Amino acid sequence: MQIALPRGRMLPDAIDLLKKTVPGLSVPEDRDLIYKNGDVELLFAKPVDVPVYVESGVDVGITGKDVLLENSYDVFIPTSLPFGRCRLSLATLKGEEVAGAEMEGYRIATEFPNISRRYFDSLDVPVEIIEVNGATELAPRAEIADAIVDIVKTGNTLKDNGLVEVETITESSALLLVNRIAGKTKFDAVNELIYDVREVIKREFN
Ligand code: PRP
Repeated sequence: MQIALPRGRMLPDAIDLLKKTVPGLSVPEDRDLIYKNGDVELLFAKPVDVPVYVESGVDVGITGKDVLLENSYDVFIPTSLPFGRCRLSLATLKGEEVAGAEMEGYRIATEFPNISRRYFDSLDVPVEIIEVNGATELAPRAEIADAIVDIVKTGNTLKDNGLVEVETITESSALLLVNRIAGKTKFDAVNELIYDVREVIKREFN
């Protein structure tokens, strides 16, 4: 079975969960992006690409709910996972706090243009969305945006950049994803993995 894992900050928790679920599982010590481990093949992808791999044929994956809220993918999501918790928030520079409903005409920098667009549409507030690919906190400081929509975990990045949250748009955590065809053609193996993951969560995380 192939399992796509998210490189970056969620990876240690994802590996920890898998090691508890698949006895004897080992992980690569180098930067190889594919690692064969008995019946299990681990693939290391960018979190934003994990659903692309799973939709396109990789059996199983782990990534954040934020990724699935930003773009829709035809994958089965059997369970959420007890890590990768964060929120997607609207933030402005300190001293310039304004509610989302008052942001008409604002320039909003974000890696999440679709979530941001839906949020402001739901408020019926027209804004300009400026799409960036990370380090979003820079945009208001560089005066190319008036506010940002970004992931907040500890809040340190916002604080260090003189920004404050004005709204929480949504909460996020990791999700288990399953390829729809693998869910049928590899029914037993996939269901055993889902069952075992749920048991580990019950045993270790509750
Ligand atoms: C994420 C997010 C924030 C930061 C928030 O960035 O975009 O910048 O983490 O975490 P904190 O609240 O604990 O400070 P990431 O490190 O994933 O990189 P990116 O900026 O390139 O998206």
